[in-house]
Amino acid sequence: MAEFNRILVTGAAGFIGSGYVRYVVEQHAATQLVAFDALTYAGNPQNLDGLGDRVTFVRGDIADVEAVRAAMEGVDAVVNFAAESHVDRSLQDARPFVRTNVEGVAVLLDEARRARVRRFLQVSTDEVYGDLSGSDRHSLETDVLAPRSPYAATKAAAEHLVRSYGISYGMDVVITRGSNTYGPRQYPEKIIPLFITNALMDMPLPLYGQGTAVRDYLYVDDHCAGIDTVLHLGASGEAYNLGARTEVTGVEVARSLLRHLRKPEGLIQFVADRPGHDYRYSVDPGRAEALGWVRRVAWDEGLAATARWYADNRAWWDAVRGSAGFRGYVQRHYGPRLSQTQAAGE
Ligand code: NAD
Ligand code: TYD
Repeated sequence: MAEFNRILVTGAAGFIGSGYVRYVVEQHAATQLVAFDALTYAGNPQNLDGLGDRVTFVRGDIADVEAVRAAMEGVDAVVNFAAESHVDRSLQDARPFVRTNVEGVAVLLDEARRARVRRFLQVSTDEVYGDLSGSDRHSLETDVLAPRSPYAATKAAAEHLVRSYGISYGMDVVITRGSNTYGPRQYPEKIIPLFITNALMDMPLPLYGQGTAVRDYLYVDDHCAGIDTVLHLGASGEAYNLGARTEVTGVEVARSLLRHLRKPEGLIQFVADRPGHDYRYSVDPGRAEALGWVRRVAWDEGLAATARWYADNRAWWDAVRGSAGFRGYVQRHYGPRLSQTQAAGE
């Protein structure tokens, strides 16, 4: 597929969205980008610093028709990263997830159709497949979607909408299903940045249950390259798994990063499990690999680079972790878990 002249990247101030904007600036010299983001608690304009004048930042909400319509002008591709993205928050309140991840996607699709955008890429997740524990198979794009958390349910709903616009209106749509992603600039609520920053502050690393749940960790640069490959080469109407073929348990995540940071294993603390915890995700990325994409960054190398970034960029995460929003979330979510563990150990 030919180059795109102007790409609308929504959720561009978040973790993977900002990585993708950086990737396009580096890889596609003639492409202009509209970096659109509502700047929720997870969005950080600093993530887009220094990317040059081919990137125009627009603050806006994907569920706001007027804002989306204005941002869509002259755009020939949309890549939608905007989402409420954290499972534990979706267990506290599903409504913001429905609003952004479902309603917002409907607005984007309507406006992309109206503007006759050439291609629409929906960034989805391997969590739409549900739990694979008890089997050693890997999810295929042809599997039935069986989401089990409110977050995953809204991402699956969005996929159905995207596909339906492809079928009903002949829109050119593609979907990526990335596995758990890690790297610089990830908001410190997900396991890897939470545990790295906790360890750097000599605070406990709260592992849910027995710490045996498995995830397939994909480095952010590889995820962005995969999305870009699917945007340019993916077949219309299809979904593509993006995974690293690297299955790691929670205990292994904690031990590896403590080793990189030279901190004691005694920081690991087992706490009450997540309700409805999916114990294994694992995708087969063969279909994306057939387009020429390959995962380049190995787990240990990616984790070392990530640990180094957080150690070197303390101002970035000090500002996040010091905010009232982050502290309130940690208190609500981990306060009862950590005090239960202490009580159990008494
Ligand atoms: P993130 O939480 O870091 O970023 C989400 C961004 O979306 C933030 O900048 C936020 O301000 C913005 N946003 C939220 N609601 C919005 C709205 N209504 N309008 C406009 N902007 C809004 O998330 P992330 O980890 O970068 O994930 C990006 C995408 O990738 C999401 O769609 C997520 O489902 C998907 N994904 C994430 C992972 C992962 O491991 N992080 C894995 C696979 C897929
Ligand atoms: P997370 O980073 O929240 O990603 P997701 O649930 O979307 O896959 O969690 C990854 C794994 O780490 C998951 O098995 C839950 C576990 N986990 C913990 O054990 N403790 C924590 O504090 C967090 C946030 C996650």
